[in-house]
Amino acid sequence: MAVKIWVTGAKGFVGARVMDALNREAGVVAMTAPSLRGMDRDGIRRLIDRTEPDAIVHTAAISDIPTCAANPEASYRANVEIPVWIAETGVKCALFSTDQVYGGASGEGPYAEGDEAPVNLYARHKLEMERAVLAANPDAVLLRATWMYDMPLYGMPNRPNFLTLMLSRDALRFSGTARRAVTYVREVAAWVPRALQLPGGVYNYGSESDMTMLDTARYLSALLKLRVELSDSGPDHNLWMNCEKIRARGIRFNTTAEGLKKCVEDYGLDR
Ligand SMILES: NC(=O)c1ccc[n+]([C@@H]2O[C@H](COP(=O)([O-])OP(=O)(O)OC[C@H]3O[C@@H](n4cnc5c(N)ncnc54)[C@H](OP(=O)(O)O)[C@@H]3O)[C@@H](O)[C@H]2O)c1
Repeated sequence: MAVKIWVTGAKGFVGARVMDALNREAGVVAMTAPSLRGMDRDGIRRLIDRTEPDAIVHTAAISDIPTCAANPEASYRANVEIPVWIAETGVKCALFSTDQVYGGASGEGPYAEGDEAPVNLYARHKLEMERAVLAANPDAVLLRATWMYDMPLYGMPNRPNFLTLMLSRDALRFSGTARRAVTYVREVAAWVPRALQLPGGVYNYGSESDMTMLDTARYLSALLKLRVELSDSGPDHNLWMNCEKIRARGIRFNTTAEGLKKCVEDYGLDR
């Protein structure tokens, strides 16, 4: 019998690609969850009871850092309460978190699960969410993602991201000291079926890289032969992750440099 997987935020940047990846899997029926905005705990439980999914991929969130800072209550509802209400139903679920939880981590990194020290409200809410979700449902899988990129695709939502920024600006500034990875979102989506089989817990989930964002921008600029003027925005905190835990479970991402090369080839951007 087909496995029913419910995807929240299915029309968002990550969710749309997760739907696409799940629809390519044999024996999987991917279901678009209705928008959860304005829903309360009972409403979410009723919806899940009625739908009877075998698993849930939760991507819905307010993921913009300044928006969260300006709207703390809305961020708490979207980024803490709603995911906890989903987890409480006991259905196997994979929920997205963020590398921003390492924004104040001590030491140079790369940071492993357990090194978290969030500094902004978005990251604090995500970390609170991870802990409350695991308390409610120890089988839940929390995926700490890096900044992700993709091109706009016909019929798929996009949001401004590292790649589209690089293609659309004449000049950009990135930190020349902060080591931080970016990940091709299609790779993130492609590993989701496997991620749903992980034992409950928190996982760094994305590309690894020892490059600074300025190095990464220069690398992509060279790949695409861009004329964008790149300069150093000054020191910032490292966000690079050590993904050994998930690699040991068979989920192996390309490095940031390999992922960018793959994306450029997929779209023929170097031609
Ligand atoms: N994009 C990145 O580079 C990045 C990096 C690290 C982590 N993440 C995490 O990855 C996940 C997916 O990110 P994304 O970039 O795909 O996000 P997104 O496109 O900005 O939003 C995803 C979906 O969230 C839902 N949503 C928006 N506001 C909401 C609210 N107030 N209450 C409940 N739901 C709301 C919307 O779905 P409906 O229209 O159905 O309500 C939206 O389509 C998030 O958990 C995010 O924190 C993203």
